[in-house]
Amino acid sequence: MGLPEDMYAGRGTDTGLAEDYSWLLPPQWMSGEVFLQQHAAVFAGLPAGSSILDAACGVGVEAVALAGKGFKVSASDASPGMVEQCRRRAVEAGVNVPTEVACWRDLPRTWQTHFDLVLCTGNSIVHAAGEEEMISSLRGLGGVLAEHGKLLVTSRNWEKIHRERQRLAVPAQMQKQGERQGLGIYLWDIPEAWDAPHVAEIVILVFEEDAVVSRRHEVVFQPFRHGELVHRMQQSGLSIVSDSYEADADWYSVVAERDDRSSPSLRP
Ligand SMILES: C[S@@+](CC[C@H](N)C(=O)[O-])C[C@H]1O[C@@H](n2cnc3c(N)ncnc32)[C@H](O)[C@@H]1O
Repeated sequence: MGLPEDMYAGRGTDTGLAEDYSWLLPPQWMSGEVFLQQHAAVFAGLPAGSSILDAACGVGVEAVALAGKGFKVSASDASPGMVEQCRRRAVEAGVNVPTEVACWRDLPRTWQTHFDLVLCTGNSIVHAAGEEEMISSLRGLGGVLAEHGKLLVTSRNWEKIHRERQRLAVPAQMQKQGERQGLGIYLWDIPEAWDAPHVAEIVILVFEEDAVVSRRHEVVFQPFRHGELVHRMQQSGLSIVSDSYEADADWYSVVAERDDRSSPSLRP
């Protein structure tokens, strides 16, 4: 099966978001330390040298940070532009992170090995549009888990986003890349209907001496309620190990492992 459309590549007047994605990450996020701390309980359960697949690696901040901690990290993403950013970041950091372009449902065919931990973090699973696509994606993610391996999924709290309908999200701090400063602004279009596409217009502003360079991108989401994600994980042959969902929190994480009663169906 081919790759899904790469929404992080450029089209029309939209230059590729993969090139600009780092402007969206808060400065304190760039070393990967915040991510390591947020999920410390998950990483603490892994012996040194355990294998990790970041299956939505984006620009590679998390994969590179984990490789720096001595884990055997591999990384993939459906977006070739993102994989290239991740590969470059790993080379610059001097860590070995094998990379592949792969969508979730094809992971077992791509990697042909099993991992102690698989990551689908940073609000990525919302790109698997609709129930059917999400279940085949979760099956692919579960299909590369080793016995007793864990899958970590993190998501924005879409119920909260629906309740608040905040249109504009401006970061509290500038991002720095070399000598340049910039930031990414989100303009959300949240329709009433949950099954209608939700669009985030992203405007990147980069300040170069007196000039301001702006670029615009669009990303489409197909949100789900927390209960739907959990149910779809279970339908995909996964059992929930921990779940941090709280109605008023902006983000949550769910850790799952292969449900051994259904593991044969998870195998490629
Ligand atoms: C919001 S970004 C998160 C990236 C990174 N994990 C982070 O936290 O910064 C979502 C990522 O998921 C990837 N993605 C979307 N659909 C995918 C699919 N079906 N298979 C694999 N990756 C996918 C996108 O290309 C993008 O890099």
